[in-house]
Amino acid sequence: MEQTFVMIKPDGVQRGLVGEIICRFEKKGFTLKGLKLQSVERAFAEKHYADLSSKPFFNGLVEYIISGPVVAMVWEGKNVVTTGRKIIGATNPSDSAPGTIRGDFAVEIGRNVIHGSDAVESARKEIALWFPEGVAEWQSSLH
Ligand code: CMP
Repeated sequence: MEQTFVMIKPDGVQRGLVGEIICRFEKKGFTLKGLKLQSVERAFAEKHYADLSSKPFFNGLVEYIISGPVVAMVWEGKNVVTTGRKIIGATNPSDSAPGTIRGDFAVEIGRNVIHGSDAVESARKEIALWFPEGVAEWQSSLH
């Protein structure tokens, strides 16, 4: 069964959006397989966003991610990578549709509340990075 990595960023945690975001993934029918509140070291944030290291916003992005605790999650279900990104909405909140998480709760691309893996292969890498201990074994009967 497909899995994806989702991170509620420091602004989402500070604004009290954790429950709302979990609710949206649960109500869709996805299964929570991993969950932790974590403060991120600079080197770890740089590793997570290594593909963006040449971007002009990279340093600001890393500062943002280490500015407070994040909630790291693994969600499982049919097409969860693609469908999860639909629930999350477009990267730039100016483009994300109302009804999506970013469309409902964000205005700034540099404070866009949440991250979701963009492909099955990046999900695999991100889950391995954030959950080296592994994730829960249970299967939802909804699958
Ligand atoms: P995320 O889904 O975590 O993937 C990469 C992140 O880089 C993105 O969400 C934004 O937080 C950030 N990002 C992308 N483009 C820009 C930009 N132009 N300015 C600032 N941050 C950006």
